[in-house]
Amino acid sequence: MIVLGNWKMNGNRDLLKGFNSYNKGLLSNSLEGVFPGLLLPYPYLGLAGDLIPGIKVGAQDVYPEDEGAITGAVSGVMLKELGCHWVCVGHSERRKIFHEESEWVAKKCFYVASHGMTPVLCVGEDAVARSQGRAREVVLEQLKPVFQSNKPPEDLIIAYEPVWAIGQGRSASMEEIEDMHQCISDYTNNYLAKGASVPIIYGGSVNPENAKSIMKVSGVDGFLIGGVSLSPELFCKVVDLCSSYCSSSM
Ligand code: PGA
Repeated sequence: MIVLGNWKMNGNRDLLKGFNSYNKGLLSNSLEGVFPGLLLPYPYLGLAGDLIPGIKVGAQDVYPEDEGAITGAVSGVMLKELGCHWVCVGHSERRKIFHEESEWVAKKCFYVASHGMTPVLCVGEDAVARSQGRAREVVLEQLKPVFQSNKPPEDLIIAYEPVWAIGQGRSASMEEIEDMHQCISDYTNNYLAKGASVPIIYGGSVNPENAKSIMKVSGVDGFLIGGVSLSPELFCKVVDLCSSYCSSSM
């Protein structure tokens, strides 16, 4: 199970240090079947390894060019140099606030993979699309530019995050999660080599309580966790629960 914390534009050096009190090796990837990490704001990426021994980190975004006169942008070369394992692309906040279209997100996705990091491709419908019964249609449209025009990256994670469940304190229901994860894997399987699969993780108000049930839902390969990743105690609790679940089901 992949358990990624997405700090968004939150946190500071003290919060990073705070993970050490609860870490107890949890975040050092030494657990069987669990791959935890933190997607940090750019300034903290280079610090994390010193402050939390063994932690794996990723970025929340990237600009898909190696260098150039692009003020404020951060390239994949830089992220790789800082030790990033994952780079999130197409988070709903980026799609909304920065007007990022799915073609642009796909470009970032291929770019990240070409630099030897794993893209975490975020997809998810908003409340209006869900109420109109268009949730699947919206999510498949978001996936299309990555799967239809090119060979999808071999190392890719898809994060299904219904926009209406992000930061709300209430996740999607187990049925909604199972249904959409199934829909995504049915679609992606059409473009993958036989026997291959893309991990699909769920995001949207995940906490230690609901994580216990969501991790058991068929097709759920882990979590993308926003608010709760700002609490070292709660985030490590989710990692711990995933670890217990994985070892009990092995
Ligand atoms: P949340 O955020 O856990 O606070 O709902 C998830 C995300 O946006 O990645």
